[in-house]
Amino acid sequence: MCGIVGYIGTQAATEILLAGLEKLEYRGYDSAGIATVWEGEVHCVRAKGKLHNLRSKLEQIETPAQIGIGHTRWATHGKPEEYNAHPHMDTAMRIAVVQNGIVENYRELREELKQKGHQFRSETDTEVIPHLIAEFLKNPPSVTDTFTPVASSRETRPTHWLLNRGNPRTEVSSPQPFSPSDLIEAVRQAVNHLEGAFAIAVISADYPDELIVVRQQAPLVIGFGQGEFFCASDTPAIVAYTRAVLPLENGEIARLTPLGVEIYNFAGNRLKKQPRMLNLNPTMVEKQGFKHFMLKEIHEQPGVVRASLEAYFNNLGDSNQSPINLGLPESLYADLEQIHIVACGTSWHAALVGKHLIEQLAGISTQVHYASEYRYAPSPLTANTLIIGVTQSGETADTLAALAMEKERRQGKESKYQARLLGITNRPESSLGHMVPHIISTLAGIEIGVAATKTFIAQLMAFYALALDLAYRRQTVSLEKLAEIINGLRQIPKEIEATLESQESLTEQLAHEFAETQDFIFLGRGINFPIALEGALKLKEISYIHAEGYPAGEMKHGPIALLDAKVPVVAIAIPGSVYEKVISNAQEAKARDSRLIGITPVNDGEAAEIFNDLLPVSHVDELLSPILAVVPLQLLAYHIAARRGLDVDQPRNLAKSVTVE
Ligand code: G6P
Repeated sequence: MCGIVGYIGTQAATEILLAGLEKLEYRGYDSAGIATVWEGEVHCVRAKGKLHNLRSKLEQIETPAQIGIGHTRWATHGKPEEYNAHPHMDTAMRIAVVQNGIVENYRELREELKQKGHQFRSETDTEVIPHLIAEFLKNPPSVTDTFTPVASSRETRPTHWLLNRGNPRTEVSSPQPFSPSDLIEAVRQAVNHLEGAFAIAVISADYPDELIVVRQQAPLVIGFGQGEFFCASDTPAIVAYTRAVLPLENGEIARLTPLGVEIYNFAGNRLKKQPRMLNLNPTMVEKQGFKHFMLKEIHEQPGVVRASLEAYFNNLGDSNQSPINLGLPESLYADLEQIHIVACGTSWHAALVGKHLIEQLAGISTQVHYASEYRYAPSPLTANTLIIGVTQSGETADTLAALAMEKERRQGKESKYQARLLGITNRPESSLGHMVPHIISTLAGIEIGVAATKTFIAQLMAFYALALDLAYRRQTVSLEKLAEIINGLRQIPKEIEATLESQESLTEQLAHEFAETQDFIFLGRGINFPIALEGALKLKEISYIHAEGYPAGEMKHGPIALLDAKVPVVAIAIPGSVYEKVISNAQEAKARDSRLIGITPVNDGEAAEIFNDLLPVSHVDELLSPILAVVPLQLLAYHIAARRGLDVDQPRNLAKSVTVE
């Protein structure tokens, strides 16, 4: 939620900030703004709406600055208006701040600061930060206060997910006192008064060679160039300039100057850290000839499945080793009795497929929870329960909070309680990666489109590997069956390619016919019920058409009342345990005049004839069919949204990672 960037160096900052914000727009696009420092002043330009509005404004203004910060906003506190857009400044307009996150105690701070004469201009929580920094610059606390160890004061706070696993490469040296008049010291004092989860970047007209950045439970990465340094909420914003990066850890604060980067913890101790090289190149975050990122990402899915097969599965011929290679320890699995999975959105749908696979293949009872519900009403704690958090971004606040709660309540118990936490994420360097002891990395690469596509398929692959790993260790499936499933998975990339090839124009034609439709129903059963949910979510998210997914058998218990000739029904009908049932449920819908669209490999015979339109997929085992069945649904949603002329990659009101509750 919200993206921040910063630059200090020898080039013109404005264009670098705008280019960075463009890559972060997936994090929010209610407004955008930049602040730069030159000729002894902070120059702040902000605009409501998408980045191009800010760009047009900036075209009229000459900005020779070589230092600046930028922000793209997803509104939390205060309407998406220009006066609430970041950067925010102090009363004297000498300090500018951008924030990603939420300052929970901003109301109290705002009142205190107002009483001290500070003038506020927005409704945001962020605005307290520049005022607080100004206050500490004007009235620095005494030297003894300056080094009050913040860790101890923070431990007493209810921010229960301050769970830093620590960085093995980090060395801490003794405190190196800042002068109380230093900008970094004032920022350090200020952040020690903030409750919540945030990442901030700060510049000041009075410190024209310093960019201060802070991370506290919201992502922030520093980029190292030649005599220039960058910061951003996410690496795509800086990869065009440098691949040497250092993600800050929670509770860290850094001073970037043209000469280098110094990193401290909140207590003022200097930390020695090394940047690492990113395995990402700038073309990965370009559209590469596709009209939208979403379409490009749909087409990248065969490659994602291939990469997952390569990483997760060993050569089947070798009887001395497990066919599955997730690198997870036995302690995670031993005596496992049940699994709880927490997730949001599309990741929640992947988890539902995962539940089916784990229960059917490994025989372990599995429940899937919305993270936002589980965090307030967790299941009873038992030693032999594995908790899995699924989040492609690794930054979704509810999923992190649910896992943190789970981690906290296991503390002080036997080690097996503590070991049984697993994360599935596309960003192992994320907050999730720091929070849980075990990770399965999904291999989708960076996804820019707000609607998840290739990351969903990557999550499905992780669940196939996990369910098979459990089944292998528990011997609930024969080796022959295991080999059959893995060989089946190996065929999937080319089947997705065939589906993409055959369906691009079919879905485009259908999109033409359905562009003005107001309601859609998606039906599936068994392992494809979550795919019906995902198909409906994709359509809702990007085309703003009302769509619902149902288990086909539930239709007659209420939703069937919605059906008439104006409500098309998309049915996922894959031969296997529930094929006949889905067909008869589809027939019930047809009897109510609904137009039927079939996602099915059966394209002849009586069953196929009941469908008005077919989006054929190849014949695959029912167990593997979700990976294939979701593809036409993604294409259908994409083409309908594109046909309606909507902003497919940045749908209204949404953000790719929701870092607030
Ligand atoms: C947001 C996105 C969804 C995503 C969900 C969970 O709502 O718009 O596309 O599925 O967050 O994200 P996560 O990163 O936790 O998988």
